[in-house]
Amino acid sequence: MMNGQGRVSPGSAAPAEERSCSWLNIWVFLIFALAIKAAFVIICLVALLDGSSGHFKILLRNSTEWCCVPSSSAEKLDGWMCCPKGWRRFQGSCYFLSTDTMSWAESAQNCTGMGSQLVVITSKAEQAFLFNLTKEKATSTYETKYYIGLAAYKNGKWQWVDQTPYESTATFWKPGEPNLLFAEKCAAIHVKGNTDPNTYSNWNNVLCITSCYRICEQAVQLL
Ligand SMILES: *[C@@H]1O[C@H](CO)[C@@H](O)[C@H](O)[C@H]1NC(C)=O
Ligand SMILES: *[C@@H]1O[C@H](CO)[C@@H](O)[C@H](O)[C@H]1NC(C)=O
Ligand SMILES: *[C@@H]1O[C@H](CO)[C@@H](O)[C@H](O)[C@H]1NC(C)=O
Repeated sequence: MMNGQGRVSPGSAAPAEERSCSWLNIWVFLIFALAIKAAFVIICLVALLDGSSGHFKILLRNSTEWCCVPSSSAEKLDGWMCCPKGWRRFQGSCYFLSTDTMSWAESAQNCTGMGSQLVVITSKAEQAFLFNLTKEKATSTYETKYYIGLAAYKNGKWQWVDQTPYESTATFWKPGEPNLLFAEKCAAIHVKGNTDPNTYSNWNNVLCITSCYRICEQAVQLL
């Protein structure tokens, strides 16, 4: 959890939630209006409000809007950790859950095109975070599938998109999965909304042409 204690400046005490930037919309609009007037503004730094849980900052950079929180690591005391707006931060990464579906290959390409990659899950904590996040987004009682960056279509072995060795990382397959490996060579997180009784072991393998949602991941920008 971020800790903004000791940085609170007087005069602004609007409560805020780290996960959401939507309450900044009016400011964002004003900033955009100014930016457009000034034409081709590359960098626009605006310190905004303090909340009870810390400081927040909106940054417009290369026409992407970023939401930043103070970095707590020792070597970056006065830095900010930024994720593009609409992405969710956990530890050192930003995560994007799509609202559209496509094949695994197209999903991988879409993430790459946004300067990210299909998510590579390397710890129990990350899996737990994604389990919470997908449950929150996928409220359908019918199973919703999110592609992750794991596929076996190249040489019959599971491979992470960033070459993280498969064997050495934690895996969270559903009981009895993966199966039908001769055909189903791409991995997806399966969720059933908030009533999902499953544990967070929720990976399943699917046909790579299945149209699924996707989770992209990129490192936080440290500023
Ligand atoms: C912003 O754009 C410039 C020039 O197009 C590029 O060199 C730079 O890496 C970009 N910065 C980010 C954060 O994408
Ligand atoms: C990726 O998909 C999103 C929609 O979820 C779209 O806005 C974006 O343009 C796509 N990017 C690329 C590079 O395909
Ligand atoms: C996931 O949600 C549970 C229950 O709300 C919570 O206890 C846990 O801390 C959350 N874990 C992560 C990593 O967000």
